[in-house]
Order: sequence, then C-alpha cells, then structure tokens
Amino acid sequence: MNGKITFTIIKPGAVEKEFIGPILNIINENGFHIVAMKLLHLTQAEAEAFYAVHKERPFYSSLVESMTSGPIVVAILEKDNAVEEYRKLIGATDPSQAEEGTIRKLYAESIEANAVHGSDSDENAIIEGNFFFSTSDKFFKS
Ligand code: RTP
Ligand code: MG
Repeated sequence: MNGKITFTIIKPGAVEKEFIGPILNIINENGFHIVAMKLLHLTQAEAEAFYAVHKERPFYSSLVESMTSGPIVVAILEKDNAVEEYRKLIGATDPSQAEEGTIRKLYAESIEANAVHGSDSDENAIIEGNFFFSTSDKFFKS
C-alpha cells in the first residue's frame, strides 16, 4: 500500500466535544493535506450503507446508531503512503490500547465513540472518498 490518498471521518462524539479544530490541526501538523472536506449528518440508510462491510458484526446496529447521533466531518487526505501513515496517527481502534499522542488516545471516549475513522486500504480509501464526494469536490495536487 503506497497510495497518496486516505479518507477520514471525525465522528459525532468528537464533533460534539468541539474537537474538529484540534483533530484537523494534528492532521495538518503530521503532513496531510486536506483535499476535500464537509460537515454533514448521516441518515440511517447512509450509515448502514457506509458500514455494510460490518453488517454481520455484533456492534453493527450500535455503530450505525452512534454514527447517526450527530454531525460528522468527512475528508479526503493526501500524503505519501497515506493509508498506513494515517492509521499510525489515529492509533488502535480501542483508545485504551492506543499509543500516546495518537488522535484516539487524545480524543476518543470508547472503542465505539473512537473519535475518527481511517481507511484500511488504498482501495477502500477511494471507495469511501467516492461515497461522500463527487469528482468536482476534490482538489488533488498534481
Ligand atoms: P475505523 O474503520 O472506524 O477506522 O476503525 P477500525 O478500522 O480501527 O475498526 P473496525 O474494525 O473497522 O471497526 C469499525 C468501527 O466499529 C466500531 N467498533 N466497535 N464495540 C466493538 O467491539 C467495536 N469494534 C469496532 C468502532 O467505532 C470502529 O472504529
Ligand atoms: Mg475499519
């Protein structure tokens, strides 16, 4: 995996606690360019579709409920080796396991309300970015 693009969500709990600014600041300080971004409130159907890959997992309905509980920020980020670099920056899914200085260590409340989402592959980064943005919304550097 060495693509230049990843996709992130700042989740409802972090938006509600006014962590949008601090999280974007860490993202920029770590060399990611924001190439598309918006704030929106997911419908139930949209959250179910976005997390369809987790449909069979026990936490699916509670995840959908928590992701629709308030507004989120969605963004496409650009950096060399973006997917791996961003997953390092966000830390482990469970914030109690996340390393010091990671976004989840700093801003997550729990394994579910874990502040941010980050794509897990180059392929999914493109799929997830395209879920929220059309071509004309994106401002990739050439
Ligand atoms: P993400 O997709 O949000 O970046 O998180 P991840 O790869 O670290 O974790 P993943 O396995 O893809 O799970 C997606 C999201 O589901 C919630 N979750 N809850 N209650 C639980 O045991 C549990 N496990 C996962 C988290 O919000 C996780 O980010
Ligand atoms: Mg994941």
